[in-house]
Amino acid sequence: MATQLAPEAPFTYRSSPTAIEAYEEWLAANPQAAPVHTQPWDVSASAIYVEDRWGPIFAEMRAKAPINKVTGTPYGNYWNVTTHKAIQHVESLPELFSSSWQHGGITIGDPPEGTDPAKLAERQMPMFIAMDRPDHTGQRRTVAPAFTPAEIARMEAEIRHRTGEVLDSLPWGEKFDWVDKVSIELTTGMLAILFGFPWADRRLLTFWSDWAGDVELTLASDLADQRFEILSEMARYFQGLWMQRMGAAPTPDLISMMIHSPAMSKMSPLEFMGNLVLLIVGGNDTTRNTMSGIVHALDQFPDQRALLEGNPSLIPNAVQECLRFVTPLAHMRRTATADNELFGQQIRAGDKVIMWYLSANRDETVFENPNKLIVDRPNARRHLAFGHGIHRCVGARLAELQLRVLLEEMHERKMRVRVAGDVQRVRANFVHGFRKLEVVLEKR
Ligand code: HEM
Repeated sequence: MATQLAPEAPFTYRSSPTAIEAYEEWLAANPQAAPVHTQPWDVSASAIYVEDRWGPIFAEMRAKAPINKVTGTPYGNYWNVTTHKAIQHVESLPELFSSSWQHGGITIGDPPEGTDPAKLAERQMPMFIAMDRPDHTGQRRTVAPAFTPAEIARMEAEIRHRTGEVLDSLPWGEKFDWVDKVSIELTTGMLAILFGFPWADRRLLTFWSDWAGDVELTLASDLADQRFEILSEMARYFQGLWMQRMGAAPTPDLISMMIHSPAMSKMSPLEFMGNLVLLIVGGNDTTRNTMSGIVHALDQFPDQRALLEGNPSLIPNAVQECLRFVTPLAHMRRTATADNELFGQQIRAGDKVIMWYLSANRDETVFENPNKLIVDRPNARRHLAFGHGIHRCVGARLAELQLRVLLEEMHERKMRVRVAGDVQRVRANFVHGFRKLEVVLEKR
């Protein structure tokens, strides 16, 4: 990432193309570069998520070979880890299974082949999600105070107010896109509140986050410069906010909190920027896709919707069950730092190990009838949608709050959301969710 930050550089706000549009345009212009996935257990193929046919593939792996190696894919060779127990095991050994970007980071995508290592290091955003101990520990501490139960409780009134406003602006009885009008709107609004980000610019957060987070872009080497340019612009924007708040009295937003944190003195400006980006990306499409996924899942299971409508005290549990059912991040990656045996499989140092949360959350040895949404499921909380261990999602409480408030405010308004049109899923193997979800609102 930009080691030379230029605070005075003018912003040229980018509103188009979005990351997915750029990637699709690039694929159309370079059809020969389209990734070819030939193996049945190569679950890096984004088509299986777009077409929503991943379920039986993972079920077969869990039954026949829960830890298996796939070779020669567009993402190289990798291990699939598909069960709840094995993923918890891998996450519990962070020294043996590294998250560090120097080893390859946390997604299945590697930098385009032949990338100059110096250029790669220069462009690397240092984020604590892609660090091992001890660096990870210190940097996580700088943001953790923003997510304590007391801080989350402090944010509840504002999030509730904002959620109500968005729901009250929706048309009843007329088709609209829930992703655009609700999921994106609420997620960017929450992040703007969290960061004290200028309200009018909040959709930039989605635009940047999509460019920063899309793993499939790593296959399109031609887009690397464009991506870098957009992310540099984002870094300049945040640097502007940072400079504004540097000399000012502390405010309750996350940027000010980080600036005034004692650990800040140990963080370079670049690390500060990297961690801000991590929070934007981490909190963005995950929450957005859960908000869409909840509506879709309740529509698919009308008996469960009726149960919830009749008993709103089930909402907190339903939030956990929806997180399990939706699993908005399909995977996280680790890289083995030494040869080891993983439940009978020989893993070699340097091997890429992919933990498929999507599969763990359908593990039939943990979740009875896993393909059904069951809002009063007794062990819904055991889901791994937030990961496990030292990297478990730092924003989990905030995400849970937003989802709970959304369901409560929908209940308050007797709002039933019926899927009634185009449903498009995200073309990705990392972010798992909806690009478009046309719905109609009905009074229950
Ligand atoms: C880490 C999921 C919302 C910030 C993670 C991880 C997952 C995850 C799977 C990695 C865990 C691991 O490697 O074990 C989710 C889901 C969310 C969500 C499903 C919403 C439904 C948020 C929000 C924020 C956030 C709202 C902040 C605004 C982060 C950060 C990390 C992280 C900073 C890195 C933690 C670390 O490395 O120590 N999240 N997340 N996430 N998430 Fe979230």
